[in-house]
Amino acid sequence: MQIIRSVDELISYVALQKNNHLSLGLVPTMGALHAGHLSLVERAVKENDLVVASVFVNPTQFNNPEDLRTYPRTEEADVALLAKAGVAVAFIPSVEEIYPSGARHEKEYQLGTAAEVMEGKFRPGHFQGVAQIVHRLFQLVQPNRAYFGEKDFQQIAVIRNMVESEGLNTEIVDCPIKRADDGLALSSRNALLTEDQRRRAPEIYSALMAGVEYSKTHSVRETHDMVVERLNAVEEMEVEYFEIVDARTLLPVEEWNEAPNIQGCITVYNGKVRLIDNIRLRPL
Ligand code: PAF
Repeated sequence: MQIIRSVDELISYVALQKNNHLSLGLVPTMGALHAGHLSLVERAVKENDLVVASVFVNPTQFNNPEDLRTYPRTEEADVALLAKAGVAVAFIPSVEEIYPSGARHEKEYQLGTAAEVMEGKFRPGHFQGVAQIVHRLFQLVQPNRAYFGEKDFQQIAVIRNMVESEGLNTEIVDCPIKRADDGLALSSRNALLTEDQRRRAPEIYSALMAGVEYSKTHSVRETHDMVVERLNAVEEMEVEYFEIVDARTLLPVEEWNEAPNIQGCITVYNGKVRLIDNIRLRPL
């Protein structure tokens, strides 16, 4: 596996592969890799001639400086995992390399209403930053396909909107959530949990599953309230939002028959660590 840190080197590498008509898969990551990331890599390796994985903690998508400062960074371990997984290139640029004129939003991406709800509401500017880095990576790598995990359900919808509004032809491949044996959705932020918080963290998935069951005999509002109350009763946990939404538009629904696919999307503070998860509520 090649480690590339410079944009110029990456551009030359990509040009060479394109000349040889090889297909490229891209797995964008912020590092601190876990089995969830590796499942994206595994799929990308199967579906493309070559895979580029990026490891870059993108400052423009953090609306909270403390969150950016404490985001886990484990470059050495990440490189070993990517090499073992069959990645051709690990692209690990510095902030200056990606943003030579400063890490700030430079244009307003058209991301649709999907970017205004949930994460968009609670993390202003977050999706503009995600669109900015993903667009930049797509320009550099020109991937045939790019792989994203469904744990960030809303992110995938927003990236699809960016791809459409920018007229890009990369296929967005969404991959199922990977969970620990106890149900906790794998996330780089799990590394920040204390032992007690980690022990309680699977309550999030248990509450979502209980929500699916409850929804069979209760309204959208009742299901919402049950899940929120159940999690808020857990020590150190506080739900930031639980939204029951149309899986296509990400806008809230009030009735179960309002959309063919309905998703429950949740963000919970477990102590100071902000965890997200989601579950399909319709069809059952
Ligand atoms: O999902 C992530 O890890 C990030 O938002 C992404 C897509 C790598 C962009 O920085």
